[in-house]
Amino acid sequence: MTEEIQKLKQLIDGSDNIVFFGGAGVSTESGIPDFRSVDGLYSQTYKYPPEEILSRSFFDRNPEEYYRFHHDKLRLRGAQPNAAHKKLAEWEQQGKLKAVITQNIDGLHQAAGSRNVLELHGSLLRAYCARCGKPCPADTINEGDGVPRCTCGGVIRPDIVLYEEPLDADVMARAIHYIRAADVLIIGGTSLVVYPAAGLIRDYHGHKLVLVNKGETSADGYADLVIHEKIGEVFAQL
Ligand code: OAD
Repeated sequence: MTEEIQKLKQLIDGSDNIVFFGGAGVSTESGIPDFRSVDGLYSQTYKYPPEEILSRSFFDRNPEEYYRFHHDKLRLRGAQPNAAHKKLAEWEQQGKLKAVITQNIDGLHQAAGSRNVLELHGSLLRAYCARCGKPCPADTINEGDGVPRCTCGGVIRPDIVLYEEPLDADVMARAIHYIRAADVLIIGGTSLVVYPAAGLIRDYHGHKLVLVNKGETSADGYADLVIHEKIGEVFAQL
């Protein structure tokens, strides 16, 4: 165990108010690509830039092309939680961790057993009709191909936050609440470039800010402990 991981272990062992805030890097070891790494979603060539396809105006204008991308790139294909998801669920069960705040839409924290998960960007495991608002089974967007339609004829959409859409105000307020009250804040697997989520780091006023990320982030200078390793491999040692 490296000295940094030992320091992280001490922080974890000594706290019962840990909050975790993560992103796509938490799920890469489960086989789901992140967005901005060299092998991430945004580095792959597609007919339109992914940020455009994942925007509300594009979804409304061109649901066929949106769903071509969705079925090709966003399907979860049986991904399973990795050591990072599992360790966070374990800490929650032990009463040490208060909340997982995630930008991920893959449901893997809940699959690992975490209960208090704040999904800032929604979930691919929920769907609803973009026209009448009726909730629809997740299978409608995660299986088959083509554009899924509601009984009213409207297009069914995933319950995720598309670009140009606001985050759920209640989820954001709860995230801020937990981060403000946190003793240890661990931020992992996120490039911290997408706002408003990335701005949550400013709500933490403690002195036990830990960053676990494969590469550098703009927040490295603010952190009390920085670990540049794979999060699943790090958490497996804790
Ligand atoms: P990014 O792809 O921007 O960043 C993922 C980060 O995780 C990168 O800094 C990687 O170096 C790091 N990483 C990858 N694998 C890792 C591993 N095994 N262990 C540790 N670190 C690892 O993903 P996010 O920051 O989550 O939004 O992106 C934020 C938002 O941008 C997403 O929620 C999505 C996207 O557009 C929406 O769709 C609204």
